This record gives sequence, structure tokens and C-alpha cells, in this order.
Amino acid sequence: MPPTPSTADKTARIVSVGSGKGGVGKSVFVANLAAVLAGSGQRVILVDTDLESANLHTLLGLRPPPVSLADFVAQRESELVKLVFDTHIPNLSLIAGTNAHVELPQPGKIDRARLLRALRRLPADWVLLDLSAGARASVLDYFLTADDQILLLDAEPTAVESTYHFLRAAFYRHVKEALLTHAARDLIDVAMDRGNERGIRTPNELLKEISDLDPEEGERFRGALRRFHPRLVVNKVHSAEEIKLGFSVRGVCSKYFGIGVDYLGYVSRDSAVPQSVQQRKPVVLADPRCDASVYLGRIAEKLQTEGRGTATSESAIEGKKRGKSS
Ligand SMILES: Nc1ncnc2c1ncn2[C@@H]1O[C@H](COP(=O)(O)OP(=O)(O)O)[C@@H](O)[C@H]1O
Ligand SMILES: [Mg+2]
Repeated sequence: MPPTPSTADKTARIVSVGSGKGGVGKSVFVANLAAVLAGSGQRVILVDTDLESANLHTLLGLRPPPVSLADFVAQRESELVKLVFDTHIPNLSLIAGTNAHVELPQPGKIDRARLLRALRRLPADWVLLDLSAGARASVLDYFLTADDQILLLDAEPTAVESTYHFLRAAFYRHVKEALLTHAARDLIDVAMDRGNERGIRTPNELLKEISDLDPEEGERFRGALRRFHPRLVVNKVHSAEEIKLGFSVRGVCSKYFGIGVDYLGYVSRDSAVPQSVQQRKPVVLADPRCDASVYLGRIAEKLQTEGRGTATSESAIEGKKRGKSS
């Protein structure tokens, strides 16, 4: 069973790990991040939200548990805590994404406020979410729900292209959530069409249009813009040039798109990683001295020292629902 919370009012810090494209190393990354944090004495719960190809249990050397997040999504189980299982690693528990006995629920619209409440109430210091690849609405909801939003990419052009696509989709979904009126939200839909006839091309142009329409909505948009701060991690790096990729993506986002993105760090391409997958053990435990383990350790440390990121708070979501004019 999961440990009980040390203090009743302390809420878990939620970290989501997404990527525009599959295969860049999300599941391996999040399992290792979890192992490092758990190794430093923090209580960590990993959540496998990738219901279609759930594999965190395998990466941790576990068989599919009898119940999983699929039961919560399908509303067969309302208490997330009942889906938490111990792993072989002290302080590290798992909510798996698949189980042996039930069919996959059709992914419907996730109730972000309900999910966020449930995730924050989990008895842990950290809750780490492994996401499906891509920018589907349900994936973006998981991504945006977190305090810290990590976007993983590798140096392949397809991954870079998908990263921009993901960032754009996540940004528009995030700001749309913050707005209350139909008219302002409609303007977001217009802006999402790159070739829109109103000529809205950047968040700043959109901000101007929304402020002209309704100054209060403009303020809400401005607040949402400030709170949007995903963090990039470049994985499978094997040259100095590839290390710079994080900086160039950050630069492009700032210059052409007007959104702030941090570069959290990079992890080298390392044959010890696939070997550790074969062993069904995080590489930071299987081979703690290899390059990848060192870089993974640095990222975990940076995340801890930088403190909780900025994300849509539960009260903001609920406030929006209460005050929504539509
Ligand atoms: N730093 C790394 N170096 C070498 N191989 C890696 C690294 N990170 C991940 N991989 C490999 O990439 C593949 C995909 O990883 P996975 O975590 O399943 O990706 P995703 O969850 O993004 O689809 C796996 O075979 C894994 O061993
Ligand atoms: Mg995965």
C-alpha cells in the first residue's frame, strides 16, 4: 500500500512528461526521474497515462496490476489512491496504465478539475505523469494539469517539428481555458488557423485583438501567457550541436511565437539505456555511473532546486467553471 502523507495539507508536486512524437524516450525518462527522486527519500508516485501503450510497469519489472488508471478514466473506480501499487524501489509507487482484465476505455474528455484534485490528494511528494505521444486534447489536458510541464524531444527533424506543433497546441488550449466569454474563445480558434484572414499570427497579436474586444479577457490572457512555461529536455544527444538544440527551440519560441520555454537539460544517447530496459530496471539503478545516469541525476536535481513550476491552479480552473458565461 502507498505510504500515508506526512502532513495533511502538503500537496504533491505534479510533473508531466510529454512529447510531440513517440519513441523519444518519455517512459524511460520519467521512470528514471522517479527513481532518482525516490532515491533521495522523496515519496514518488508514477502515473502511466498512456493507456494505449502503457509500459511503465514493464520498465519497472512489474506484471500488469489488477487495476489501473483505465478504471479511473472509465469511472469504474473513483478513488485514485486505490490504484497505487508498490514497486521494487523504496519510496516509488505506480499507477499503471493497463491491466490484464478490462478492456481499454474509450478516451473521453478528461475532467481536468476532478483529475487534478485526485492527483494532488495522492499521498506523495511527487506525482510524475507519463503521457502518450502527440497533441491530442486528452494528452494536452494531462500535460497542462501539472505544476511542471516537461517536453521531451530528440534531435531528429521530425521530433523537432512535432515539438513546435505540440507547444502551439498546448499554448492555445491553455489560454482558451483561462478565458470566460464565447467571443474571446472564438478568437483563439481563429488564431489557431495559421492562415486566418484576420492576420493573427502570434500570441501578442492575439492579445491585442482580445484586449480590444474585452480588456478583462485581455488581462486573463496576459496572466495565462505568463503562466505558460514548459521545460524542454533533449534526449539521446550525441554531439555538441545536438546539445544546442534546446537553446534554439527556446529561441524560436520566444522570437517568433512570444512564449517562454525553459531548457531544463539534456540526456546523452547511451547504450546503457536500452540495456537497462532489457533488465527492466531504471538505468540510474542498473548503471548509476553511465553518462545517461549522470545527466538524468542533474535534471532531477535542477527540478528540485528550481521549485514548483507555474501551472493552472485548481482554484483557477474551478473559478473559471463557476464564472463561465457560457
Ligand atoms: N538516452 C537514451 N539513450 C539511448 N536510448 C534511449 C535513451 N532514452 C530512450 N532510449 C530508447 O528509446 C526507445 C524509446 O523509449 P521510450 O521511453 O519507450 O519512448 P516513448 O515513451 O517516448 O515512446 C527505447 O528503446 C529506449 O531504450
Ligand atoms: Mg512511452
